[in-house]
Amino acid sequence: MSRVAVVTGGTRGIGAAISTALKETGCTVAAIYGGNDEAAAKFKDDTGIAVYKCDVSDTQACAENLGQIEKDLGGIDILVNNAGITRDTMFHRMDAEKWNAVINTNLNSLFNMCRPVIEGMRERKFGRIINISSINGQKGQMGQTNYSAAKAGELGFTKALAQENAFKGITVNAICPGYIGTEMVRAVPEDVLNEKILPLIPVGRLGEPEEIARCVTFLASDDAGFITGSTLSANGGQVMV
Ligand code: CAA
Repeated sequence: MSRVAVVTGGTRGIGAAISTALKETGCTVAAIYGGNDEAAAKFKDDTGIAVYKCDVSDTQACAENLGQIEKDLGGIDILVNNAGITRDTMFHRMDAEKWNAVINTNLNSLFNMCRPVIEGMRERKFGRIINISSINGQKGQMGQTNYSAAKAGELGFTKALAQENAFKGITVNAICPGYIGTEMVRAVPEDVLNEKILPLIPVGRLGEPEEIARCVTFLASDDAGFITGSTLSANGGQVMV
């Protein structure tokens, strides 16, 4: 059976790898992107995956876009909340704009995206919600009070929503990637990345987006129906919880 999957932040970085991997498993995929039209158009050309522009921090826009996706592709079976931003700075220099931007995009987006799809999943008695959290939601990270708070919040949300929907055939899980070789991580100052972060990764390298995508395709599969409310760490051994 072909499932319909939605991936936020689905045209670049980890999200692009997730969209592509889900398509390879036979899903019909909609990749939501926030602003980079050029990257989205290239992604669509390269992969044939439908793209939708939507600010995941905007409640109304999410409801409208998800409604459109359901009209175009059918009921949504799999939702991957991957969109995320960083606004790194020490807390004593952080302003409200940096705090709110990260909380709105990384955490409030889970309400905005899950709320419109959860009733349909409950009616159809099947759903897979996968939230891409972060190692830094598990351990905290200097320079990221905003991001760490949002990513830790995603873990609580995941466990609560999992409990509410387990008996309806819906699983809700989180993945906590470590440092993956994407633009977001490459934006970390090079000396910090090389001297402070890489030496802490026992596997000795950054992760690959495809390594996270393979976690997603497993959790999205029918085979993973007994796994819900879990947190899957994929961080090269950097933190073991
Ligand atoms: N781990 C360990 N030490 C770190 C560090 C980190 N991640 N980030 C900074 N430091 C250290 C610096 O090396 C420096 O130490 P020394 O004085 O001994 O050299 C000290 O903290 C101060 O750092 P800066 O000189 O860079 O100070 P700053 O005020 O200009 O910037 C900062 C501070 C905002 C924390 C900046 O260093 C920074 O952006 N660091 C990276 C933070 C980070 O890890 N972000 C993760 C982004 S990737 C991501 O978020 C994806 C994901 O889910 C994993």
